[in-house]
This record gives sequence, C-alpha cells and structure tokens, in this order.
Amino acid sequence: MQHNSRRLVIDGGESIVDFNNKAFKPIPQEGIDLAVSAMNAGVMYRYQPKKKEQSITANLERDFSKYMGVKHTIGTNSCGSAMYIALNIVGVEPGDKILTNAFTFHAVPSVIHHARAVPVLVESNREWAMDADDLDRKATETGAKVLLMSYMRGHVPDMDAVMEVVKKHNLIFIEDCAHAYATLWNGQLLGTFGEIGCFSTQSSKGMSAGEGGLFITNDDEHAAKAALYAGSYERLWTKHYDLDAEIMDRLQNQIPGYSMRMQEVTAAMLTPQIERLEHIKNVHVENWKLLHSLVCEHENIEVPMPLPQVDSFCDTMQFHLVGLSREKADLFIDVMKMEGIPMQIFGAKRNARDYRQWEYVEAHKEELGDTIANIEFACDLSLQPHLSQENMRTIAQVLHDVLAYINAQ
Ligand SMILES: Cc1ncc(COP(=O)(O)O)c(C=O)c1O
Repeated sequence: MQHNSRRLVIDGGESIVDFNNKAFKPIPQEGIDLAVSAMNAGVMYRYQPKKKEQSITANLERDFSKYMGVKHTIGTNSCGSAMYIALNIVGVEPGDKILTNAFTFHAVPSVIHHARAVPVLVESNREWAMDADDLDRKATETGAKVLLMSYMRGHVPDMDAVMEVVKKHNLIFIEDCAHAYATLWNGQLLGTFGEIGCFSTQSSKGMSAGEGGLFITNDDEHAAKAALYAGSYERLWTKHYDLDAEIMDRLQNQIPGYSMRMQEVTAAMLTPQIERLEHIKNVHVENWKLLHSLVCEHENIEVPMPLPQVDSFCDTMQFHLVGLSREKADLFIDVMKMEGIPMQIFGAKRNARDYRQWEYVEAHKEELGDTIANIEFACDLSLQPHLSQENMRTIAQVLHDVLAYINAQ
C-alpha cells in the first residue's frame, strides 16, 4: 500500500495530535501526592488505618456516594470484580441465564462466565445501545431474571422502555457503567436506575487509576454483602462509613471473601477525580460537538445521535463508515493509524467487542443480524481530555483527506 503520511506523523513517528499514553487519562498531581504519601507511610491496605476517617478508600467511597446520590459505595479492584460480586449478591447460580448486550467489551460476558452463568445476548441498535424490544423478546423467550446492561461507549438506550421491560418481567437490573460516568437520562445519573451500578477506574475510563472499580447501591443488605465479598472480615466493616452493624453481624460468616478490595493507592489516585468529572465532561462535550459538526456531513460518515433525553460524557466518538467495502474500510483504519490517529472497527480483525470472538460462551455462535450490521463498519475514536479544539479541527481534516485518498483507490 502506497501512502505517505503528510502532516501529522513527524520524524520519529510521533503524532502532532498527541495520543500518547502518558496523557491517557492522566492522574491529577494531588492524587499522585496522596498515593505517594500512602506509600511513604507504608499504608496501602485499606483496613490498615485505625479509623475510617484515615482510610483513603473509605473517604473515596463516601465522596462517590455523595456525588452519585446513593447510600453506598464499595471500592473494588476492578469493575469486573464489582459485577461478579453483584451477580453473587443477587443470587445467580451456575446455569442461570443473564440478559446482557451483544455489543459490549468481553469483560462483561467474562464476568457472567466467571459466575458459571449463561449470557443471553440482546441486540444492539444503530447507536450501539441495547435494543429494548429485543430485551423484551429475549426475557420472554428465556425466562431470564437478571439483566446486566452495559452503556457501551456511553451509548444509552431508551431508559423508559428498558425500565418498562424490567418492570414487566420483574428483572433484577445491574448497570455496567464502565463507560458512563457523569451520564444522565432525563437528569438522572446512570448507575442509579438498577439495584446495583458498577464503575471501572481502569486507565481508559472517565476516572482512571490503572485498575479499580466502584460498586454502588441504595440497598443496605447489598452493600453489606459487597463489602464482605470484596474481602472485609471480622469487624473491619467498622472502617466503612455506611454499613449497618446488625446486618454485618448477621452476614459476617455467611459470605465468602473473594479478595477484590480496592487498595489505598488506587483510592488516592481517584480522590481528586470525582470533583473534576464535570470539568472533564465539558471539555469532552465541546470537543465532541466540534468534531461532529466538521465530519457529520461527509458521505462516508454516519454519526448516530443520542436520544434527546441523554446527556453523555462524550470521551469517545463512534461513527459508521458507509459506502465503503470491507477492504477499503480496513485500509482507512491503517491509513488513519499512519497519520497518527489510532482507531478501530468494532466488527473487524478479531476485536474483543465483537461477540463472535467470545468463543468461551455458546452465544458467540448466534446470528445476531442487527448487532453484526451495526458493528461491521463502526469506527471508534478515543478523545482524551488533553486534546484541544485545534486538535479536533486537525482530526476532522485528516478524516476528510484520508477518505478522499481511500475513495480514489
Ligand atoms: C464496557 C465495559 N464493562 C466493563 C469493563 C471491565 O472493567 P475492568 O477492566 O475495570 O474490570 C470494561 C473494561 O474495559 C468495559 O469496557
């Protein structure tokens, strides 16, 4: 393939639009200082401090609950762990069917597999959110009683329709909010619609600490169980702000501890990030809007718009490539990479977000026509918070130029 990068990749292969890893959801200096102070003090285990007030993790949990407007947050070592704990709490047994997205990251079916349960994959719509009609259909057909729903890349289905299905089938609803920080439906934060919400603090997420997770709920019993499953034992629950003594005493020895606790250094990195979420969101939203306005009219680009009730975090942009062959779409991704703008197509090249790659679950063999059609040419671009409006103009220009080059082949 003959393509010479022109403006973006400068000598040494560095990109002018700086997508480098160091800037990948950076940790605020205040968080780094707090983490270093925990390490200097040799206090990295969340239950090490004598009092809850001294525990960085307990304070983070209290602050996140306040931000989300919920009663309880339990820190975990990943969102996968939070979701696994959630499935255990709601009583999932081996062989149980769990409704989930056909289009999500493979961590989600993996968690269902971890619980020895069976995913029932629900179709995705053109905007990559769960199709509420198919959810209704699959709930009826399978009799599944649990819904583990992802807001993949921050895409939100019609929540009124989803909640109607939840009510109709009396589903236990767990929300995977790994990609849905500060995201609202009709003014209500996602993560507060179901019995349990699970957030990720892995490096690419809205709050970032390398790894980590946050489990939220308004249910006192769920919170108690989450702390125990994560690895609280004996009377360590007194080092949480919000756990009920009677419930803890009763459940203490009934729940196994899976060693999925958050550690102090993780909580330290996250501490200044809660109050920064709104600012970061504004940066993302302004960038997203500008980039959208510059590319949305291109004949090869289709950007499905969120429903009017949705207010998203906008830290990524997805669009369908239209009117291009598979070969040309793959070439587009290769040339964009050469230009210093890494992108992926969800339905191509053994992508872990394509359910047909999840060979460890039977459902990977299913023919889910809508989902396949909606991921086949779906491009994914990460828009990190350090990128400027000028960067958006450059990205848009490169997209136009690369598509012109592809069309001329
Ligand atoms: C949609 C989605 N859900 C859940 C997870 C799991 O998050 P974690 O890596 O914190 O377990 C991920 C991870 O990238 C994800 O993309």
